[in-house]
Amino acid sequence: MKCLSIFQSKSAGAKSSPEPKEENPPSKSKPATKLVKSTGSSPRSIPEIYKEREHTLKKFSFSDLRNATSNFSKLLKIGEGGFGSVYKARFKLSESDNDPTVVAIKRLNKQGMQGHKEWQTEVQFLGVVDHPNLVKLLGYCSVDGDRMQRLLVYEYMPNKSLSVHLFSPTLPPIPWKTRLQICLGAAEGLAYLHEGLEIQVIFRDFKSSNVLLDENFNPKLSDFGLAREGPQGDRSHVSTMPVGTYGYAAPEYVETGHLKSKSDVWSFGVVLFEILTGRWAVDKNRPKGEQKLIEWVKQFPADSRNFWMIVDRRLNDKYSVKAARKVAKLAVSCLYKNPDDRPTMSRLSRA
Ligand SMILES: Nc1ncnc2c1ncn2[C@@H]1O[C@H](COP(=O)(O)OP(=O)(O)OP(=O)(O)O)[C@@H](O)[C@H]1O
Ligand SMILES: [Mg+2]
Repeated sequence: MKCLSIFQSKSAGAKSSPEPKEENPPSKSKPATKLVKSTGSSPRSIPEIYKEREHTLKKFSFSDLRNATSNFSKLLKIGEGGFGSVYKARFKLSESDNDPTVVAIKRLNKQGMQGHKEWQTEVQFLGVVDHPNLVKLLGYCSVDGDRMQRLLVYEYMPNKSLSVHLFSPTLPPIPWKTRLQICLGAAEGLAYLHEGLEIQVIFRDFKSSNVLLDENFNPKLSDFGLAREGPQGDRSHVSTMPVGTYGYAAPEYVETGHLKSKSDVWSFGVVLFEILTGRWAVDKNRPKGEQKLIEWVKQFPADSRNFWMIVDRRLNDKYSVKAARKVAKLAVSCLYKNPDDRPTMSRLSRA
């Protein structure tokens, strides 16, 4: 498919440790770094692969993280989501470091099993993956008992999330070329999850607030708390309780709980439209007919004369109409009702 080449050409009783319960020793014949698909033998599970990789993550003490954030001071808080609050901090990651590293620390504010499960999933998946378009987890902290604590320490992303820039009236708009670069990077991150590992990973919560931006506005996917292993063998899907975010989740997944990689492709299509229009997937502050983005854009098809009306006004006409039409067509293909008709992420990112 040619569409994605536009991105390229234009882009300049919780357990305290995230260890798996099964204690199967990892196969010695596979080196720790071997994560690409292997043929022949059946793929290992994420917890199994994680067991060989866990040494790459640092275990932080709670007091170290509390000190680094001045006791989780509001002044250092940089964000808040469903999991908890996020703080910016400086930290010497090892004794030999001369200078402290700037990190983002996320602290779980929910009690109970659900929060722990999400934290554990995040540690295990991010402990296994390794790609320039996925946020890097540096380590974690876990304290059990009455004062249970679960924290995650990530590389710091100076430009926060894509949603902050797309929808904030006070920040400068993201230029067109950068938007294409973000589309491509996010597609590559998802393609890696779907096809670049020994086992398929489905992200399940792809949305603009989970796309973080580095100092050059390169995108990195974050929030793996809902990630799942994909179906294996001849299976077409895994059955799950539908979770995710309203407005981004694929309709067949919401209805049946049948999860497949094409569910992520749907969410990617929604975010493509957000990037093109500068509008939220769902915006209750807009008139009734405009609240659901993917319904509203249907009135302005890519080849119609009115198409320009959906393109983000904050771009001030500084965009390629041809490329914008292609992005819209690509988004529409991601939103096909039948998941099998949607393109794969690798096809999207390579073409
Ligand atoms: N590694 C990071 N570096 C810099 N800022 C970050 C980092 N991780 C998160 N943030 C900031 O914290 C905000 C909250 O992140 P979080 O993932 O907890 O919630 P969310 O994505 O906004 O919502 P949800 O809980 O639905 O995923 C992000 O939008 C981002 O601005
Ligand atoms: Mg998030």
